[in-house]
Amino acid sequence: MNLSHTLSLPCGARLKNRIVKTATSEGLADRHDHATPGHRRLYEIWARGGAGLLITGNVMVDRRYLERPGNVVVEDATGLQALRAWAAGGTTAQTHLWMQMSHPGRQCPKLVSKEPLAPSAVQLDLLGNYARPRAMSEAEIDDVIARFGQCANLARQAGFTGVQINAAHGYLISQFLSPEVNRREDRWGGSLAHRARLLLAIVARVRERVGADFPISVKLNAADFQRGGFSLEDSCQCALWLAAAGVDLLEISGGSFEHLRLLGDRGDPATAEDPAVAASAVKAGYFTDYALAIGQALRDAGRAMPLMVTGGFRSREAMERVLALGGIQLVGLARPFCATPDLGHRLLRGEDIPADARAASCTGNALSRWLTRFKTWRVLRVQGDVAWHARRLAQLAQGYNPENRSPAWSLIGHMWADMAHAMRRKPPLPGIAN
Ligand SMILES: Cc1cc2nc3c(=O)[nH]c(=O)nc-3n(C[C@H](O)[C@H](O)[C@H](O)COP(=O)(O)O)c2cc1C
Repeated sequence: MNLSHTLSLPCGARLKNRIVKTATSEGLADRHDHATPGHRRLYEIWARGGAGLLITGNVMVDRRYLERPGNVVVEDATGLQALRAWAAGGTTAQTHLWMQMSHPGRQCPKLVSKEPLAPSAVQLDLLGNYARPRAMSEAEIDDVIARFGQCANLARQAGFTGVQINAAHGYLISQFLSPEVNRREDRWGGSLAHRARLLLAIVARVRERVGADFPISVKLNAADFQRGGFSLEDSCQCALWLAAAGVDLLEISGGSFEHLRLLGDRGDPATAEDPAVAASAVKAGYFTDYALAIGQALRDAGRAMPLMVTGGFRSREAMERVLALGGIQLVGLARPFCATPDLGHRLLRGEDIPADARAASCTGNALSRWLTRFKTWRVLRVQGDVAWHARRLAQLAQGYNPENRSPAWSLIGHMWADMAHAMRRKPPLPGIAN
């Protein structure tokens, strides 16, 4: 198996190769939270860049709750024309373009909502950026399920060739899955079967709305890496349920805003025990061993569902080695595609991931390594890295040649852009002059 091989999905769709540009939040929406020409430009650049599948950044199903200002929101047909243009750009050259649908739950910044929703009123404590959430009512849970179905239906109408449900990284569905955040005592909390009810209900509703021949993917954590959180065992069980529900592709990542394993942060080096890397038999990516364990659980149960692993791939050799193992069918990359948009073609030509794409310059000197014992520093460092990549994709979308700013400058620019987006949104948000 190598990167250039095609992949047929259970619904009948076919991907032209095994390289995926995975989700990267764009922050490019207009003041109505609709897609813009920047989305079209950026995704056309990526589509011409050779990947078989592009997954959009978080598209929100409810404009009251965003992961960041600048998210596209799809809750009715008002932005359909702009979505069509985005879909046209991203499906150039027979590339698949899937919309990642998401609800942030408690990971919704104060800049957007002073009272976000969550399974239970358990606050996210991160640099004071997130307000205490309110526990959702049954009616609000039903509303969220309907919104995912509606968003998927509109994505299909607009020309997207698939959808992904974001159940990873500590967003709403992942909060329901976590016993740490979900303290409910009704049918949506308690046992894993109850905690997974929201995810499975959303998958069923989305399938009902898009039909049998349309790809549905789920992005799931291998684990939350949090004491008392969602575990690898839970993840294996969810994978079995998702396979039974007819999901076409399961993407494996891990962590949350609190525990940024998704971006390679391994916690306080003094106390960190990182099974994803330390005990890694494969030594490729952050979550490969976990994805292999999930694949094994599926095989043991006689179930089949394509698997993709994302996070930390920085060489072609590592990607090919993982595919050669046989249990994982696709490899996802996010940051390398922000730095090198034509990475797909380069990999297919046999080239490696360019050195300048391996990481922003925040991997650090001795001082920054010492500082990693402090959580605030680690969060800022990871945020600087994310901002560096987010600024690059924003510049690509605007048609500029990306400049190489320091992570600190990128973070300031990134925060400024989010603030400007929040102030421009229509209708005005409570407390924000417009
Ligand atoms: C700028 C940026 C934006 C991201 N936005 C999203 C997102 O919207 N949804 C998501 O599931 N993951 C998001 N991620 C996480 C990536 O999809 C991926 O899981 C992570 O970056 C690890 O992959 P990498 O090592 O190839 O970058 C984002 C990452 C970056 C750097």
